[in-house]
Amino acid sequence: MTRFLTTALTTAALGCLTLPSIASAGDVAAGNAKFQQLCVSCHGPGGKGDGPTGLALTAAGQPAPRDFTIGEFTIDADKDGTAGSDSDLKDVITKGALVFGGSPMMAPAVGLSDADLDNMIAFIRSLKE
Ligand code: HEC
Repeated sequence: MTRFLTTALTTAALGCLTLPSIASAGDVAAGNAKFQQLCVSCHGPGGKGDGPTGLALTAAGQPAPRDFTIGEFTIDADKDGTAGSDSDLKDVITKGALVFGGSPMMAPAVGLSDADLDNMIAFIRSLKE
């Protein structure tokens, strides 16, 4: 398992060096597990933005949690002209949307490792239909 993880992480690191924004190198299953712990109340188990808090926000006229099955992102956190790169998603997840002009309801998630972030981003991208 450790060897597997080391290999996976090394592959992930090399992947980041050679393919900066094309592919997420994370583990979709591990990302799903974290997502179900931390993000479902708003984004819903399948990432459609239909968790109970997400539905309440939408009903109250607040910005809806992003529907990840559409696969479109709006926040260009690193201001490189492209929204929704891995770097943008990491910034939104760790710093929240408010500092980038978005909803305060998308609050910063604390205590996530780089691997957690890579995995969650891989999961989020896997939801695109
Ligand atoms: C309390 C509700 C809530 C929770 C919990 C929440 N989000 Fe969100 N999320 C939102 C809302 C609302 C938006 C839309 C923000 C906007 O449009 O300004 C959003 C947007 C996003 C976006 C889209 C950014 C973009 O550029 O379009 C991502 C990615 C995201 N959330 C990931 C996560 C992850 C990962 C978690 C768990 C660690 C999480 N969210 C937890 C409410 C939430």
